[in-house]
Amino acid sequence: MSAHTTTEDRTAAIAPPLLEVRNLVVRYGKNTAPAVDDVSFTIGQGETLGLIGESGSGKTTIGRAILGLVPVASGRILFQGRDITQASAAQRRALRGELRAVFQDPYSSLDPRQTIGQAIGEPLRVAGTSRGDRLSRITAVLDAVGLPAASAARYPREFSGGQRQRIAIARALITDPVLVVCDEAVSALDLSTQAQVLNLLASLRERSELGYLFIAHDMAVVEFLAQRIVVLNRGRVVEEGTTAEVVGNPKEHYTRVLMAASPVPDPDEQARRRETWRALRASAATDAA
Ligand SMILES: Nc1ncnc2c1ncn2[C@@H]1O[C@H](COP(=O)(O)OP(=O)(O)O)[C@@H](O)[C@H]1O
Ligand SMILES: [Mg+2]
Repeated sequence: MSAHTTTEDRTAAIAPPLLEVRNLVVRYGKNTAPAVDDVSFTIGQGETLGLIGESGSGKTTIGRAILGLVPVASGRILFQGRDITQASAAQRRALRGELRAVFQDPYSSLDPRQTIGQAIGEPLRVAGTSRGDRLSRITAVLDAVGLPAASAARYPREFSGGQRQRIAIARALITDPVLVVCDEAVSALDLSTQAQVLNLLASLRERSELGYLFIAHDMAVVEFLAQRIVVLNRGRVVEEGTTAEVVGNPKEHYTRVLMAASPVPDPDEQARRRETWRALRASAATDAA
């Protein structure tokens, strides 16, 4: 090992993680159970953390808390070492370029009257970037997500679901973020388009130190992209580990049930999985009784 490597290692050890969520609690109502209950995890620079759990387990709420879209009841959220738990609107605006989001349904988030170029360039326009710089960035980011430069002059209705998801990704990337929260970003797409968009997300990560919080209910999708996985059940973390650990040797029955529920392309395989899923659910019901 050279002295240079040692210095780098030391720097890496000192640099704070990209994101740190500590004992996060989020409540929607006073008398209901918290939607997110004492959740902690860390995302390193350039790392993809998969967040998985059944519907209603609190995944979206965690993403929204990180993005400042729901109030935090207790706990802390640190972004690159800075406490953003109670960030003001102005502080949130300052974070907008570094911390971005891609949601499930890009159609509803794209204004039908805005061209793709206007939609993608919006964050730069807000930041005061000149028109010339904007246009060259738009072209570059369209290219990065595999869309022709001419797409900039067209409207959302002219694109397929998969293309619109690429547009949403382009809009997230145009500010050169360090962390993108992807909430069910491929869930609405058919399997082959899912694979394309997942490959795209993976290749974008390779080119820069981009980290993802990758939220999905489908283990097959999470397994593809995530280096580590956090499993959520009723607002709580029930299992956490590297993807190999969680997928290869799940500790929790709940995790095995989630894995058995993953849709797969082969219908026979899918039927087998569905059978497994049914059996696991039946045994879970017996356990609970
Ligand atoms: N705006 C809201 N108002 C009240 N309850 C909500 C709201 N959003 C989510 N919840 C509840 O919080 C829990 C977690 O929801 P959510 O974070 O959307 O889960 P997931 O994304 O894992 O499906 C669920 O019980 C859900 O019903
Ligand atoms: Mg959700």
